[in-house]
Amino acid sequence: MTYGTTPAVLKRLLKRNNKYKMTKKEHNQQQIFQEGLQFLAQQAEYSKILWAEALGAFSPLVAKPSEKTTSAEELKRSQKSDSSPAIPEVDQSPSPDINQRKVLRPIPCPEPDPSWRYRAPEAEPTIPVPGEIEDPFPQYTSMDSFRAAICNCQKCPLSRTRTNFVYGMGDPQASLVLIGESPGADEDAQGFPFVGRAGQLLDKILAAVDLKRDNDVYIANILKCHPPENRNPRANEVEHCEPYLIKQLQLIKPKLIVSLGRIAAQILLRTTDSLAKMRGRILDYHGVPFLVTFHPAALLRNPQWKRPTWEDVQKMKDLLIELKSTDPS
Ligand code: URA
Repeated sequence: MTYGTTPAVLKRLLKRNNKYKMTKKEHNQQQIFQEGLQFLAQQAEYSKILWAEALGAFSPLVAKPSEKTTSAEELKRSQKSDSSPAIPEVDQSPSPDINQRKVLRPIPCPEPDPSWRYRAPEAEPTIPVPGEIEDPFPQYTSMDSFRAAICNCQKCPLSRTRTNFVYGMGDPQASLVLIGESPGADEDAQGFPFVGRAGQLLDKILAAVDLKRDNDVYIANILKCHPPENRNPRANEVEHCEPYLIKQLQLIKPKLIVSLGRIAAQILLRTTDSLAKMRGRILDYHGVPFLVTFHPAALLRNPQWKRPTWEDVQKMKDLLIELKSTDPS
């Protein structure tokens, strides 16, 4: 797999953003290339500023604190006033404090089949990495019916301390799936993944590359229940819960998977490699391209990792565009 920007990719990009103005007669690869790259450069500049704004006043990405910076709003205004194409709207409204945020209502969980020992269906044995993975729950064919079947799960002790089973959220036909390790306390309280402070940062990171959690993106965790004190997932918990994620991935069929943090990547890839070793490489998860980046909670604690995360996220977006253009299905 290679990164590359061809006129065909740029043309699709321009068309998708209503920037492709040439008639068939005028069609000229060089011009497509020029206009496409100009558009990408503007997007990159705009995203860079959004990103910097999202992550706080100081960011080494834009300028040293003493230098004058341009806000995304100013950039957009200046671009509107010249002849260059207008930049698509991106919601820049500041995310309200977690306590004032609209709290999502957990989805009700229907009564399970009385014959199930652990109030959830047993997974069929699956083949471990590498190679094609078998369907652990072939009887389910939709994300909703699968959720209804497993949301009462009592296969491991976390079921006794959870408030909500955190299945996942987003577009069930997403091209991009983001995977964390396990729900935190906010996620447990609300029943949705990444809705706490780390989740708000994740939303801003996605917005900086023009993505939203419910539009072509799906977010899930390896564990569906909150481990006390946010400890790392234990082997017996992963053993029971990972087949649920595998089934979700088989239903969604993403083109790209991104692990949020080292722990999720190590569990899914059956590796002990460090984050430093995994980052920046296109890995393979049962035939699906797989990237690893910092966990947003780690970014909150370590602002010096913002810059490498920005690089990862740009790479992720480029790769996603490339994968979608080579396989538009
Ligand atoms: N951290 C995770 O890994 N997942 C969540 O859903 C929230 C925080």
